[in-house]
Amino acid sequence: MEKKFKRTLVTTALPYANGPVHIGHLAGVYVPADIYARYLRLRGEDVVMIGGSDEHGVPITIKAKKEGVTPQDIVDRYHNIIKESFEGLGISFDVYSRTTSEIHNETASEFFRHLYDKGEFVEKTSMQLYDEKAEQFLADRYVTGECPNCHAQGAYGDQCEKCGSSLNATDLINPVSALTGSVPVLRETRHWYLPLDKWQPALEKWILEEHKEWRPNVYGQCKSWLDLGLQPRAVSRDLDWGVPVPVEGADGKVLYVWFDAPIGYISNTKELLPDSWQKYWKDPESRIIHFIGKDNIVFHCIVFPAMLMAYGDGYQLPDNVPSNEFLNLEGDKISTSRNWAIWAHEYLADFPGKQDVLRYVLTANAPETKDNDFTWRDFQARNNNELVAILGNFINRAVVLTHKYFGGTVPAATDLQPIDSDTLAELTTIKAALEENLDNFHFREALKEAMNIARLGNKYLQETEPWKVAKTDMQRTATILNVALQICANIAIAFEPFLPFMSAKLVKMLGGDKITWDMLGCTDLVPAGAVIAQPELLFEKIEDETIQAQLDRLERIKKENMLKNFKPEPVAPEIPFEQFEKLDMRVGTVLECSKVKKSKKLLRFLIDDGMEQRTIVSGIAQYYEPEQLVGKQVVFVANFAPRVIQGITSQGMILSAVNADGSLSVVTTINPATPGGKVG
Ligand code: 2FM
Ligand code: ZN
Repeated sequence: MEKKFKRTLVTTALPYANGPVHIGHLAGVYVPADIYARYLRLRGEDVVMIGGSDEHGVPITIKAKKEGVTPQDIVDRYHNIIKESFEGLGISFDVYSRTTSEIHNETASEFFRHLYDKGEFVEKTSMQLYDEKAEQFLADRYVTGECPNCHAQGAYGDQCEKCGSSLNATDLINPVSALTGSVPVLRETRHWYLPLDKWQPALEKWILEEHKEWRPNVYGQCKSWLDLGLQPRAVSRDLDWGVPVPVEGADGKVLYVWFDAPIGYISNTKELLPDSWQKYWKDPESRIIHFIGKDNIVFHCIVFPAMLMAYGDGYQLPDNVPSNEFLNLEGDKISTSRNWAIWAHEYLADFPGKQDVLRYVLTANAPETKDNDFTWRDFQARNNNELVAILGNFINRAVVLTHKYFGGTVPAATDLQPIDSDTLAELTTIKAALEENLDNFHFREALKEAMNIARLGNKYLQETEPWKVAKTDMQRTATILNVALQICANIAIAFEPFLPFMSAKLVKMLGGDKITWDMLGCTDLVPAGAVIAQPELLFEKIEDETIQAQLDRLERIKKENMLKNFKPEPVAPEIPFEQFEKLDMRVGTVLECSKVKKSKKLLRFLIDDGMEQRTIVSGIAQYYEPEQLVGKQVVFVANFAPRVIQGITSQGMILSAVNADGSLSVVTTINPATPGGKVG
C-alpha cells in the first residue's frame, strides 16, 4: 500500500431485494470484497465491511403487483434469503442492513434536504407518460413499446433489450402502460435534478488525473462518460414506493432509487457505529473502497461522488472502486428473470459444507478484467484437480504421516538441510507476492500464490519422501514432517481470506488458536511437542452424477424458457381450397424403421400405405429411436415426386410438428386409422 491509511470502509453494492443472489453477484462483488476485508482484518487493520439490501426501485413494485402482494412483502422475503445466503457463504459483513430501515429513511431524507437547502438541485418540469386509468405517472419500466432504433416490440421505457440502447420512455413508438394496458398520455411533472455538469471539472481532476491507478475498465468507463459531457440527472420519481421527497408539495414523489441506495452505505455505517461512523466517511486518513459490478460504475464513480461533493461537510470520495466485469453461466448471460443462474441459497442446499469450493472457483475464475464463464465441468475439475488433489492431498499427507510415525505429536526439526530451508524460505517470497496482489485487488493472482504454498508442500514431500526415510532415519523423518506441518500452518493463514471454512478447520486440526497475517512466512507456527488432531477431510471429490444433476437442471430451465418465449411463426398467406386439395396426404402404419448408415439425422421407414407399401426417408433420427416408431401410425404426403436421399429413394414425406426448441414431434392419429386413408 502506497499511502498509509488508519482505517478502511469496504462497501459492497446493495443487491436489489427482488430476487435471491446468484453466482454472478458473488463473483463480481461479495467474494472479492470479503477476501479483501478478511485480509485487512487478519493484518490487524481497522476495517469495516458494509452491506445491505437495496429495497426500493420500480422492479420491486412491478414484482409485487404481479404477485398481488405489497412491495414490503417482496423485500422482506428476499432480504432474508439474501442475508442468509451471505451468512452461509461466510461473507463477513460487519453489518447487513436494508434501505427500508428507519435510519436509512432519515439519512437519505436528510441528505436530500441538505442539498435542497443548499440550492444544489435544479427544479425542472417535463412531460412524462401518465396512465389515466391507474391515475399515476409511469416509471420507465412501466412503459413498453416499439424501440425507436431497432423497431423491436416490447422495449422498456429505459432500455431496449433487443438492441441494448438506452431510451427515454417518451421516445417509444406506440407506448403502452404495463399497469393497465392502456395508452398513456403526456402530462407535466416536476422533479429535482442534480446538475452533474457543475461537478464535471472536479470529477475530471479527481478521476482522470488523481486515480489513474484504478482498473482500466473502471477508468475507461468514467472517461467515456466524462468525454460525453455530464448532464443534470433527475433524483426524484413519481412513485409510491421509496423515501418520500422531503419537500412541501412533493406528495407522490420519492427519491430515485439510485439516489437513496448509495446513501445506504452511510446509513449502514451509522447503524453499526452510531458514535464513530463519521470517522470512516470524513477523516482524510480513512479510505473507502466500493466493490461493485460493472453496471454500477457510473453511479459510484460519478453520481455518488457528485452527491458527496455537493453535500460537503468533509465527506471523502472513494479511494478505489474495484469493479468486476460479468460472469456468464455455461456460455449465456446470467439472468434473474430467465432463472438462468446458480442461486446462492440453492447452492448451499445442494452442496452442504462446500462453501469454500464455490468461493474458490469464483475467485480462480473471477471476471476481473473481462467477462468470464462459469461451467459446472470447470467447477468439478477445479475441485477434484486442485482442491482435492493439490491442497487437500498435501495437508492430509502431512497430518496422516505425523500420526503414523509420531502418534500425532509434532516432531522436532533438528538438522535442517538446504532443501528444508530453501522450501521454508520460499514462504516469505510467496507472502510478498500475495500481499502485492491483495493490496492491488488482484484476487485471482493472489489465490494462485496461495495455491503455490500447497504446490510447494507437495513438491517437498515428493522430493524428501518421508515414508521411505522413515524406514531408516526417524530423526530426518521428524525434520521433514515438522517442515511439512509448518507449511500446513502457513496454508491456514494464507487461505483464510479465500477459504475461511477450510482455514478454521485446519487451524483446529493443527491445535492452533488465533491466526494473524504476521504469522505468515513463520517456520515455527506448530511447536514441537504439540499434539495435532486426527486428519479431517477438507475437500472431497465431486462425482459426475452430481454435476450431471446440475446440468440437467439448467437444461430444463433452457427448455422452459424456450417454451415461455415461443412465438409461433406467422401464418402463411391465404390459399384457395383447390391448392390444398393438390396435396395428397395419407395415413400409414410403420412396418419397419431403421437408422440410415452414416447419417445422424435420417431414418428409413417402410410404410404400410394400404397399397403396395412404400419407403420414406425422414430427418427425425435425433428425436426418436427407430423401435419407438414401429407399429405407429403416421401422416405422410403421398404425391411428392420420389427423391433419392443417401442412395435411398424416398416416396413421400412424413409430417412432424416443429417444437419451440427446434425438435420435431411426429404427427400421428388418436384412434387407429385405416392405412391408405386420405387425410383432409
Ligand atoms: O445494481 C444493483 O443491484 C443495485 N441495487 C446496486 C446498488 S449499489 C449502491 F448504490 F447501493
Ligand atoms: Zn432496440
